[in-house]
Amino acid sequence: MSGAADDGVPVLPGTDAPLAEGELVVLTDRKGRRYLLTLTSGGEWHSHAGLVPHEAFIGCDEGTTVRTNRNMEVTVLRPTREDFVLKMKRGAQVVYPKDQAMIVAAGDVRPGCTVVEAGAGSGALTLALLAAVGPSGRVVSFEHRDDHARVARRNVERFHGGPPDNWELHEGDVVEGLAGRRAHRVVLDLLEPWLVVPAVGDALAPGGLLVTYTPTVPQVMRTTERLWEDGRFSQVRTTETMVRGWDVDGLAVRPAHRMVAHTAFLTTARRVPSREEGGPPRPRRKADTGPGIVWGETAAEETPAGE
Ligand SMILES: C[S@@+](CC[C@H](N)C(=O)[O-])C[C@H]1O[C@@H](n2cnc3c(N)ncnc32)[C@H](O)[C@@H]1O
Repeated sequence: MSGAADDGVPVLPGTDAPLAEGELVVLTDRKGRRYLLTLTSGGEWHSHAGLVPHEAFIGCDEGTTVRTNRNMEVTVLRPTREDFVLKMKRGAQVVYPKDQAMIVAAGDVRPGCTVVEAGAGSGALTLALLAAVGPSGRVVSFEHRDDHARVARRNVERFHGGPPDNWELHEGDVVEGLAGRRAHRVVLDLLEPWLVVPAVGDALAPGGLLVTYTPTVPQVMRTTERLWEDGRFSQVRTTETMVRGWDVDGLAVRPAHRMVAHTAFLTTARRVPSREEGGPPRPRRKADTGPGIVWGETAAEETPAGE
């Protein structure tokens, strides 16, 4: 596929201007397959569907559909962050958009927050965190593999058209990086988050939130146990997020046959003062898994008994 490099500048989708040379665009064919490419003068896009000169897209509005020389239709749009993440180059496995959204919601990541993140991996979650904290916030990412740090930097800078002002990427271990640092939120997507818990307890002020993202049950168990042992965390909850697509076509409306069933578990915890400093007790319930804002508890269930 010639001219398929993803080194163009992504422009905000929905911008009221025609597509221009040098922009990153996403093409979608009739089967829903997506292709990222940079529009270049004289460039050509070709696949099994045939060939289209880039000139056919340059100057068009987003959503224009063009025929290849083999009479197949492809639609051109500016890429969303999801398009970019699913097609960008990867070093490490990325956090998919469904989980990025839940990390931002469950972690209460909002404009103005300082978020420490590790490991940066391919930078997919970094992009979601940067969007959530906005220009008034800050994302401080740690990545201990230099090859992964390079991929993360490349992806984040590509998406932003340069280094974002509100982002720091440090090559090194997050435990060392957290020493002496203050954060409102810490988000960990790494193999052994329980090893980072004491450093997170030092970096978060009471009220701050930790989110860990781990694919297996033993990781959840070790992380949760370490959080309770530390004595400075409460409201420790674990969830997983399943998103099922639906095929909607006239009266034929049914769930899609296939879905990504499991990616990873989210464990969230609030930093609190220790028990000696006046913090809460560990709940006597088996686990404090009470649903939070997005876990579907009804108002009736929230009413204490007898009221
Ligand atoms: C699954 S990847 C993260 C993917 C990333 N969240 C994304 O969405 O692209 C995990 C990364 O954590 C890094 N890592 C593991 N332990 C670390 C540590 N203690 N400090 C810094 N980075 C670490 C690994 O090198 C790896 O790149």
